[in-house]
Amino acid sequence: MLDRLAEIEALALEALEKVSDDDELQAWKSQYIGRSAELGKLSKRMREVPAEQRPEVGRRINEVRTALEKGYERREAYLRAASLEKTLREDRIDVTLPGRPASRGRLHPSTQGLREILEIWREMGFQIYRSREVETDQLNFGLLNMPPHHPARDLWDTFYTTEPGVLLRTHTSPGQIHVMRERAPEPIRVILPGMCYRYEQITARSEIQFNQVEGLAVGRNITFADLKGTLTAFARRMFGQEVRTRFRSSHFPFTEPSAEMDIECFLCGGDGCPVCKQTGWLEILGSGMVHPTVLENGGYDPREFSGFAYGMGPERIVMLKHRIEDIRYFWGNDLRFLEQF
Ligand code: DAH
Repeated sequence: MLDRLAEIEALALEALEKVSDDDELQAWKSQYIGRSAELGKLSKRMREVPAEQRPEVGRRINEVRTALEKGYERREAYLRAASLEKTLREDRIDVTLPGRPASRGRLHPSTQGLREILEIWREMGFQIYRSREVETDQLNFGLLNMPPHHPARDLWDTFYTTEPGVLLRTHTSPGQIHVMRERAPEPIRVILPGMCYRYEQITARSEIQFNQVEGLAVGRNITFADLKGTLTAFARRMFGQEVRTRFRSSHFPFTEPSAEMDIECFLCGGDGCPVCKQTGWLEILGSGMVHPTVLENGGYDPREFSGFAYGMGPERIVMLKHRIEDIRYFWGNDLRFLEQF
């Protein structure tokens, strides 16, 4: 039996050297150390061995088993390393190929303009207040002092949803009511940026969607002088310290009195050019003292509180700054336009 054990060991180790892949290795395993392998059968035949030889035979069986198991592990590790090396050799990456450049996005010119404007107001202590784009007729018009059939509504036709009285806001002004109702009777200093919609013929000068930045300050003893001073400070930050401004009286249903602010045309320096239509001035925003009815609708007593408000169009300002002649470029998704900013 000792001879047979030596034979098995020699045969098995020799066969193991020829094993070249995992399938062969598994076949080898079941033949030499598996459950029905001869080695296992030998240990069941210990009874046939003369008693004085048994310890020796038992020890040899264990030695051979250990040797074969070790051999199996070694071969397995060797095969794994060999296959890894093969993969590395065959699937080589050609590092000399030029890479594909990742194209980096950039901010839309409107967003850039919007952020520039918001940054100035932020420094002046105005908080950003986000307000919804889908509004009720009541908030977009009624509470802003434009009851049904008010002629001013004709200026701001919009898109209506199938839900009666629910529409896309035509301006950011309804946000004024939201903030006031949320904060009353606290003082307010906020800006309300966001998209607005109008039912318009799309032309080089008018679009059906555009951004606005609305501003609102409410408190005690706020006067028209505060409005003028604050908006002039904004214009200087936005267009340069030397810029001249002027206020023209105007009309908005939600402010009284109302004014539009012009800045001196920065393209011709006030001499007159096609952009300012030879007037030397560019209109950049509407403003006014918050109408007492609107204050009341927001929950403020107009005998105690006053405020000013304004609204401007960032696209219009970006157009003036960059001399963009057609507003349709903004939402036309033409990369040749967008990549210039
Ligand atoms: N909502 C006005 C518009 O869309 C702009 C405006 C004018 C806003 C005067 C105001 C304001 O807050 O006081 O044309």
